[in-house]
This record gives sequence, C-alpha cells and structure tokens, in this order.
Amino acid sequence: MDGNGRWARERGLPRVMGHKAGARTVQKTVRVAREMGLAVLTLYAFSTENWHRPLQEVDTLMGLLKTYLQSELDKLLQQDIRLCCLGEMSKLPGDVREVLEKVITRTAGARGMTLNLALSYGSRNELVRAMQRLASRCVAGEMVPLDITDEMVSQQLDTAGQPDPDLIIRTGGECRLSNFLLWQASYAEIYITETMWPDFSKKAFYEAVHNFQQRQRRFGRTGEQASTGLPTT
Ligand code: FPP
Repeated sequence: MDGNGRWARERGLPRVMGHKAGARTVQKTVRVAREMGLAVLTLYAFSTENWHRPLQEVDTLMGLLKTYLQSELDKLLQQDIRLCCLGEMSKLPGDVREVLEKVITRTAGARGMTLNLALSYGSRNELVRAMQRLASRCVAGEMVPLDITDEMVSQQLDTAGQPDPDLIIRTGGECRLSNFLLWQASYAEIYITETMWPDFSKKAFYEAVHNFQQRQRRFGRTGEQASTGLPTT
C-alpha cells in the first residue's frame, strides 16, 4: 500500500494525513475484495523496516490500525471475513495487540474471505523463524535435514494453510517486492501501478484483476503446455 506520503506531499499535507486517507482506502478495498469473491486479501500495512520511521509516524500508524480494528469488527463479521495477522504480533504495542487478538478470535469462524494484515512483517524474518523451528525439530531428533520439503517450509510460514498469492498489486509505482512474501510469491503475477494508495479505487482494483486475467501463467512450462493443460512429463 505504497504512496501515502507522496499523496500527502502533493497536497501540501503532512505525511500522516496520507496514512489517514490510506486507512479509508483499506476499508473500501476490503469491501471490494469481498464483493469480487476473493478467497484471500493480504495488505502489507507495516514492515519490520517501518519501525525505523520517525516515532510520530509510527505512533500514527499504530493509532490508525487500532481505530481500524475497533471500528471494523462488526463489518468483518457481517461480511463473513476472517482476520489473520502475518508478522511478529509480539512487537506491536500492547493496546494494539489486545484489539488485534480480539478481532482475530471473534472472526476466526468466518469463511467468506481471509483478510491478512501484514504487521511488523518482513519475509526474511518470517523465513528465519521458520528455519529456526525446522532446525529445532532436527536437533530434537524428530527429523533430519534431508526430510525438509517445500511443503514443510510453507507450513512453517505465517501463511500456513493458505494458498500462495496469485496477484501482487503494488501502488506508488516502485518496482520491487520490499521483503513481502518472498517464498510465497514465487509464481505470483506482479502488477505495478503509479496510482498512490489513497487513490486506489474500485475501478483501479478491477483494472488490476482484469490485467491479471489476460496473463498466461506458465509455471515453468512452455506456453503451449500451459494453454493445453498437458502434463509436464
Ligand atoms: C507506505 O507508503 C505505507 C505504509 C508504510 C503504511 C500503510 C498504512 C496504511 C495504508 C494505513 C493504516 C493501515 C490499516 C490496516 C488501517 P509510504 O508512506 O511509504 O508512501 P511514500 O513512498 O509515498 O512515502
């Protein structure tokens, strides 16, 4: 959800106003994703690196997150949306963690859509934590390193049990993944738009999905194999 700061600067506003506008876009985007029938929507709201931003900006973001969670619980339940958190929840301030845990628990039974909020999230950190757990199991004698499979790594990630992303949309025009779902994004289609996150509208979302629908996903096969669905062997 990049571009909040630039959106504010273009209007002569402080950066935090861009984040406030961005929080309104979060509300709208979740509604649109649910209407579209998406199974999973993941929003990269706060990275492990974002802790290095000025304290006032970090405080504002934490405050917006808390307000969002408090105000959205009923709407998430009405829309049958389950909230999950990717990242190190323990690093969040206690009051934010408390309301986050409450929303996660209250929405745990929802089946219409999963909304992942990536908070204090970094893909390298997630992978390190996964490796530490697998290494511990080896040390405990439960398995040996050669037993480790793709599937076992996936099951140790914060997204365990969820499908890999099909489409990654980056607003704000930067052409990089910025430590986001590096393992899970192996075969994701990437869509980059110059639109700043606060301006990311329903129309812009549909355009991204439409663009995705035009692509041929080959997963390492030839174009012919992919279009005929022939086996790889
Ligand atoms: C990156 O844009 C955006 C963030 C670090 C924060 C994203 C947060 C929100 C959209 C609002 C709060 C979240 C929720 C879930 C309610 P940037 O500020 O780095 O943009 P810039 O590159 O233009 O400076």
